[in-house]
Amino acid sequence: MSDSDTRDSNTGDSKNGGSEKNIRGYGGGDVDAVISVEEVTRQAAAIAEDISIDQLDALAGNEAFVSINNLHAGYGQMEILHDVSLRVGKRQSLCLIGPNGAGKSTVLHAIFGFNNIFSGSITIGGADVTKLSPNEKLAQAGIAYILQDKSIFPGMTVEENLWMGGFLKEQPAEAKAEAERIFDKYPRLAARRKHLAKVLSGGERRLLEISRALVMNPEVLLVDEPSIGLEPRFIDMVFEILHDLQHNEGKTIIMVEQNAKKGLEFADIGYVLVSGEVAIAGSGNELLANPKVGELFLGG
Ligand SMILES: Nc1ncnc2c1ncn2[C@@H]1O[C@H](COP(=O)(O)OP(=O)(O)OP(=O)(O)O)[C@@H](O)[C@H]1O
Ligand SMILES: [Mg+2]
Repeated sequence: MSDSDTRDSNTGDSKNGGSEKNIRGYGGGDVDAVISVEEVTRQAAAIAEDISIDQLDALAGNEAFVSINNLHAGYGQMEILHDVSLRVGKRQSLCLIGPNGAGKSTVLHAIFGFNNIFSGSITIGGADVTKLSPNEKLAQAGIAYILQDKSIFPGMTVEENLWMGGFLKEQPAEAKAEAERIFDKYPRLAARRKHLAKVLSGGERRLLEISRALVMNPEVLLVDEPSIGLEPRFIDMVFEILHDLQHNEGKTIIMVEQNAKKGLEFADIGYVLVSGEVAIAGSGNELLANPKVGELFLGG
């Protein structure tokens, strides 16, 4: 299926590629020649490699913690992901990059249970979680999805927002105790605990979004575009927090990042997703060094 018929907001109408109107560059860095999303998709499809499950397993150290197996998923009757497989080991991080509309967010939605799974399976630590609801994913399977903005209640204080993050806990006191642990860890947030969430800066808000997901003490973090809309120093702060969560708290992280350079520098594993299929898989460093990936996603 072509993305162009379903995406219209920010992709423009440059069907011929190379048009200079209504088109937008991709990734960070300097982009001399801006090409359209359709053209990126076409060129990315052309560099797709044959990927074996053995290769995905090897990238996950042959000890996958999260496995997606031949997943076909989408919205309503529409299939967006076509036979997607993914492997990530415990305490590893994986970054999905790819053109707008490729289905990156849909992969995270599928893991969390936000969309329809037509066939295939998802396992975590060997347990089949394919059919669990989002609440079950969070409370039982230890998966948290870090939503942008929408998870925050602007009219509540920072601490109330954190308590709400523990709404699935049986005892409210447990959520409060977790919130205190989080305040100890992030003084920046603690200093604002009585402030309404709506007055936070963009970076503080992102910190609250991440922290809110941590109240349930998840093992797997699904993070969609952590750097979006943030100025560079806040982007670095967010990646430092994610680094700490992976390396010091042992979280497994699956992220989508438009800033492909940042995402691939951060992640152990990188996948390029194109038109609902995994086109390239490698270590983050391999993808950073891949000239084709560089040309299309890293700003030349
Ligand atoms: N809730 C939805 N209902 C119907 N179709 C959807 C829904 N969300 C996404 N889609 C469609 O699924 C396809 C993949 O979208 P998705 O958001 O996963 O792409 P993406 O790779 O995350 O793109 P972007 O880089 O723009 O965030 C698109 O064609 C999109 O229009
Ligand atoms: Mg997306």
